[in-house]
Amino acid sequence: MRRAIIAGNWKMNKTGPEAVQLVKELLNRVSDVRDVDIIVCPPFTALESVAWVLGEGSVKIGAQDMHWAEQGAYTGEVSAKMLLTIGCRYVILGHSERRAYFGESNSDVNKKLKAALATSLIPIVCVGEKLEEREGGQTEVVVQDHVLGAFEGFSASELKRVILAYEPVWAIGTGKTATSEQANEVHAFIRDLLKSKLGRSLAQDIRIQYGGSVKPENAASLLSQPEIDGALVGGASLDVESFARIIKAVS
Ligand code: 13P
Repeated sequence: MRRAIIAGNWKMNKTGPEAVQLVKELLNRVSDVRDVDIIVCPPFTALESVAWVLGEGSVKIGAQDMHWAEQGAYTGEVSAKMLLTIGCRYVILGHSERRAYFGESNSDVNKKLKAALATSLIPIVCVGEKLEEREGGQTEVVVQDHVLGAFEGFSASELKRVILAYEPVWAIGTGKTATSEQANEVHAFIRDLLKSKLGRSLAQDIRIQYGGSVKPENAASLLSQPEIDGALVGGASLDVESFARIIKAVS
């Protein structure tokens, strides 16, 4: 049985004080939720203050990216150890916005995954096709390329704590959600792929989140699909009411 996991990716939104306010309100609303892993991913500048507010409570904190090196001359970057030291438990890797605007490749994601897994961070690896790729019948090819590219060189046992997020690029921030069936189909494809490449046990255990215009209105339907284990929420996670409703739709 895979435990549900709902994460909020705040992207480049919220100053430190705004972030603190938002998580305080969130804590008030979800204090009774026991059966869902809840994660918030504020921008780097707000991580430490949000981590202080969350403490050892049930809502955990993640970063939106990290560098693969342990330290060194990489202006503007942060390492896995820096994230861990301020209380991060999770890190999003390979988000489509990183791939699109910052030229991140599968090989970069693979190096970041290696660096994250060398620590105790739990990586959330994002995969997903663009609109023209879906329309050109390339969804499975692209998703396979992203998954195998990120996972190259790892054994099944090393990947145990990794979380995958299927985020069709055409559904991100557009209000266009994949239908629950469309999303479930791709999740099932990913699980089959993992089964054939890395074995049944990993394929059964690994959690696959869906992301792309998840809202309180569609969360229950998406999350009731057998292969969808959670959601990676963008816009709706910035509104405490909406994010709490999404969490409760799953709980
Ligand atoms: P939206 O929920 O705003 O579509 O964003 C999804 C996303 O990119 C989460 O990582």
